[in-house]
Amino acid sequence: MTDLTTAWARVLEGANLARSRRIASLFGAEPGRLVRLSVEAAGLAMDLSKQPWSLTDLEACLDLARAADIEAARGRLFAGEVMNPSEGRAVLHMALRAPKGAGYKAEGQPVSAEVEAMRGKMAAFATAIRSGERRGATGKPIRSVVHVGIGGSDFGPRLVWDALRPLAPQIEVRFVANVDPAEMALALTGLDPAETLVVVVSKTFTTQETMTNATTARAWLRGALGPAADAQLVAVSAAPAVAQAFGVPADQVFGFWDWVGGRYSVWSSVGLSCVIGLGPEVFDALLAGAAAMDDHFQGAPLERNAPVLLALAHVFNRNGLGRPVRAVVPYAQRLHLLATFLQQLEMESNGKQVTAQGKPVAHATAQAVFGDAGTNVQHAFFQMMHQGTDVIPTDIIAVRHAGEGDPAAQLILNSNAIAQAEALMVGRPESEVRAELAGKGLSAAEIDVLAPQRTFPGDRPSAFILLDRLGAGELGALLALYEHKTFVEGVLWGVNSFDQWGVELGKTLATRVLGELKGGAQGDHDPSTAALIARLRPGS
Ligand code: F6P
Repeated sequence: MTDLTTAWARVLEGANLARSRRIASLFGAEPGRLVRLSVEAAGLAMDLSKQPWSLTDLEACLDLARAADIEAARGRLFAGEVMNPSEGRAVLHMALRAPKGAGYKAEGQPVSAEVEAMRGKMAAFATAIRSGERRGATGKPIRSVVHVGIGGSDFGPRLVWDALRPLAPQIEVRFVANVDPAEMALALTGLDPAETLVVVVSKTFTTQETMTNATTARAWLRGALGPAADAQLVAVSAAPAVAQAFGVPADQVFGFWDWVGGRYSVWSSVGLSCVIGLGPEVFDALLAGAAAMDDHFQGAPLERNAPVLLALAHVFNRNGLGRPVRAVVPYAQRLHLLATFLQQLEMESNGKQVTAQGKPVAHATAQAVFGDAGTNVQHAFFQMMHQGTDVIPTDIIAVRHAGEGDPAAQLILNSNAIAQAEALMVGRPESEVRAELAGKGLSAAEIDVLAPQRTFPGDRPSAFILLDRLGAGELGALLALYEHKTFVEGVLWGVNSFDQWGVELGKTLATRVLGELKGGAQGDHDPSTAALIARLRPGS
């Protein structure tokens, strides 16, 4: 087997050659390209042929995956070994979505039975709420859920709800993440406390924003309903005792485990609000879609493995071609939060400068991810995507069948998805623009000015991911695809993808600054920070 350093060198050498050829030229040079770079997995179809790699580069990338021993790392992950060494934890979100009877173990301890029991408790609770069998403190049925949580305790459930919510939900779910009081005020507006369940979601149950918001929401319930309001207070946490100490009745605390990372937790009881709002069947379908992707990731050979191939394509751009930013553009309004979800998944997981052994990484890590729904973004940042000085690779996600509404509009939507991917790659040569302008009778001087402005350099890569429809199963598979892709990248870069020490310093300093804003003695700060504290002190 090629050693890791040599494998990396081959990938980087290949990428250097890629700089001097065009992606579009590879289709002629490599007759099998489209087939070789198209893969189906768990109901998703992925086309990586509009990427800058040649089939030789693909081989070099696969050699890199072999040299990094992706298969062994994957084996350790699924076997429940400690994959998050800085926190001494296994990483087993796959156990949360496995079919009944799976035998997952975390560090040798069986977990699947507990997972199934918790899934059963969630389904029973949600069903009782949805049927009206379980009501609020005054006997009114529950019509709204206010989900309070942040980061991994928010992005996943918010995305799932947004993507799958019925047009006229029986129970509406609203989300409050930010400690900005405006978000809470907006979420509570128009809700009847007697008909509202507050679900506080926090793995640690200590997160400043969530505890602040939970206290506000609890006061809102208690203010209207008195102490009986606690019957409408629910907690989801890996620290159930802390949740109970907050006042949540023990049978309304839904636990999960330290082997579930926050950004990988939507499949756990963190998804409770979605189970209540969407129904257990929909949530089960979400889990089943993700489980199908787990099977694919575990079973498919590297060269046909969708998460592995997507990771390698992104790494080829990131490391081979020095592209630190990637756009994610779902042509599905229901997926408009996907990029936000992926920001945490990818950037919190792999935005690291040292390896899991504490040594500097040998290669740049993580791409900054941004995006929103197409076609809207075509009227926002696509100018830069097509003609900016930087090449920004794009993941385009499209859905074949519309879930609702006018099928003709869906065709327009999909035509845009396809056309943008084509335009990004093919571009429009200056010669063609010049000929067109000459045909319109413009002078040579005018053409000299206008033609460069109307030229599209092209050669801008995209990955195209196609869902047959945007159902719960497809969504589960899509999210699991990105989870495993992120894991593969983390192995290639040698980082621990499952800790997040980089979020700690800001939290600590915010606590200190808060004390000073509240009138405590001003600490030692740089002049800029000191001036801001002085300005924002109440009464200043
Ligand atoms: O953003 C930092 C972080 O620790 C995330 O990893 C986590 O998802 C989020 O905060 C929320 O944490 P908790 O669920 O413990 O409130």
